[in-house]
Amino acid sequence: MHAAEQAAQRAFTAACAWVEPAGLELLGNGHIHQTYLLSDKNDPAQRYVLQRINPSVYANIRLLMQQTQTVLATLAEDTEYCSAYQVVSLVATADGQLLHMQNDDGGVHCWRLWHFVAGSTTCDPPRQRAQIWQAARAFGAYQRALAVLSFEVLQPTISGFLHMPSYLNQYDKALADCSSAVRQEVSQWLPVVAAQRHWPESLSSPNAMIHGDCKINNVLFDTAGESAIAVIDLDNNMYGHWAWDFGDLVRSVAFSRGGVDIADYRACASGFVAGRGAFAAQSALYAVAPAYLAFMLGLRFLTDHMNGDHYFSVPNRGDNLRRAAEQFELLRQFQHHAQAFTDVAEELTADDSAERS
Ligand SMILES: Nc1ncnc2c1ncn2[C@@H]1O[C@H](COP(=O)(O)OP(=O)(O)O)[C@@H](O)[C@H]1O
Ligand SMILES: [Mg+2]
Repeated sequence: MHAAEQAAQRAFTAACAWVEPAGLELLGNGHIHQTYLLSDKNDPAQRYVLQRINPSVYANIRLLMQQTQTVLATLAEDTEYCSAYQVVSLVATADGQLLHMQNDDGGVHCWRLWHFVAGSTTCDPPRQRAQIWQAARAFGAYQRALAVLSFEVLQPTISGFLHMPSYLNQYDKALADCSSAVRQEVSQWLPVVAAQRHWPESLSSPNAMIHGDCKINNVLFDTAGESAIAVIDLDNNMYGHWAWDFGDLVRSVAFSRGGVDIADYRACASGFVAGRGAFAAQSALYAVAPAYLAFMLGLRFLTDHMNGDHYFSVPNRGDNLRRAAEQFELLRQFQHHAQAFTDVAEELTADDSAERS
């Protein structure tokens, strides 16, 4: 067993003395936390998801946990949401805490435990378009259920998260501070950024409670991969713009499927409208949000490359530059398909308002 796994096992044993843990395995392909699947040696049907929360991404883990509980309670009270989806649940430690602090490797690590959603799997990348629709509907329904919260209830858990003006400022600063060699490396992207600094004002103004990380691997499916059964990864919930979730889903689906596909886009839009509803007046943002999110992520990768790869840890120097190029290519494709996106979105939002009138 590797040192990281031994640390996970030690944390679990200390926190959950009532369970005798059987061997643990790494779970999923999340990029933020260390996540393990564990079962109880005496009762193998009891399975748990143990996570070490990444403190370099989340500075205020107590705020994160407090907000997670608020979101879980809000979802659990929404009968429409609960009729379609399970709400994941945290497991308290032996001394009744939802966070377990463990001294290990010379530092204090924060661990938490979830009930494993029985009979679940992830579909990443999605193999069938119906899975994209299912995920989109689940994220739409999630936003709808959280709409009862007032805006001050959820603070961003990552400062400036999804805030384009902040990312543009960070880019400007990194460009001003970087060496001439690094400036040369990024030179081909400077005109791209210069041409993309202006987006619809309405896209940067928060108007909804959002999930904040709408990737398809944050939806659990039944083992047949047919139905979405739970939305997970509640760490980036915040007051944002509804279209950021939608745009990020379209962006991540296009990335995992090797490029833009209008039928995939239609699955995202129609699923999201089915879950969330009520957006006829803002249909223009359905078409522009994927490009906005692709540009934003490309900009973040580019900035991090200029800053020496501080935020996104990468195995090799140059990886963040390559990732920026991939997102800027998606941006180009999204903008190329803007009219087709608009046509799909107008058709869907018209259907949606016709159904509601
Ligand atoms: N309650 C759960 N039940 C089943 N699988 C889970 C559960 N929570 C997390 N997972 C699995 O672990 C992976 C990583 O968890 P996630 O909370 O998304 O962490 P990250 O922030 O690192 O993406 C998920 O993609 C999923 O495969
Ligand atoms: Mg995740």
